[in-house]
Amino acid sequence: MARSKRDFLSLLDFSPEELKEITRRGSELRSADHQPQTLTGKSAVLIFQLNSTRTRVAFEVGMKQLGGHAVILSPADSQLGRGEPIEDMARVLSEMVDVVIIRTSSQSLLEQFAAASSIPVINAMSERYHPCQLLADIQTFEELKGPIEGKTVSFVGDGYNMCNSYINAALQWGFHLKIASPEGYLPDPELVKSTNNVEVAGSAEQAVKGADLVVTDVWSSMGHEGEEDTRTEVFEPFQVNERLLDHAGNDVLFMHCLPAHRGEEVSETLLEDPRSVVFQEAGNRLHSQKALLEFLLNSD
Ligand code: CP
Repeated sequence: MARSKRDFLSLLDFSPEELKEITRRGSELRSADHQPQTLTGKSAVLIFQLNSTRTRVAFEVGMKQLGGHAVILSPADSQLGRGEPIEDMARVLSEMVDVVIIRTSSQSLLEQFAAASSIPVINAMSERYHPCQLLADIQTFEELKGPIEGKTVSFVGDGYNMCNSYINAALQWGFHLKIASPEGYLPDPELVKSTNNVEVAGSAEQAVKGADLVVTDVWSSMGHEGEEDTRTEVFEPFQVNERLLDHAGNDVLFMHCLPAHRGEEVSETLLEDPRSVVFQEAGNRLHSQKALLEFLLNSD
């Protein structure tokens, strides 16, 4: 019997075993000589209300590599948010395609859309979570260092959607997460309390001490562009640079979801440091998202 449709709005929508299988499969697809045609005849719609390079290209190319097809809707092309009820659009697209992938500044819009849709809905980033990025990050860590379970991860920077997804990931993959954010930019305390695996550190140095992986994100995410001047001042002690990484474990890795602002949340040279794996991480967006699509569209 076919299972009912699944959505991927946050990492908590899947079990730890399912997430591990997706990242394992992502690595398998990364090293495959020929891409399997597992999505032949399948179609995806991508609705991007906010800009994207990596996420959008990874889904579009990923669908194509596996034999499927993707239709891209930019804010100018789509009726979403222009008066047509969200539920109507969800029901219409459910009649036409196999999966809907949405980037929006509203997690509640995603949830409303998914509730009315009879096909899977994927969160391609919202103001609350960025679960697709975490699939690539964990896949990359495990390709280079083995299982992340039991390791120490440090998130330094804005307690926003990437940090929130790392909190979810700490629970799902069983690693210890240490967070350092400026006062006023800490993650949601309720989310922090949702798992015993998360600790808020007093400084960036304390957060990275002994870390196996250090992660950061831009100081002003999409939607906060007008706050750049204020944020630059308060985030300055939280820049990730070579000196900060020296406080971490000997074979620490550094990741950033990109785009990065050199001279702000990272030093001018950090992305070229041997500890940085940001380009393998970015490339794995393609393979982990293919594995996600296979999981959602082919698991009967
Ligand atoms: N990291 C990330 O989501 O990149 P894009 O905004 O380019 O998709």
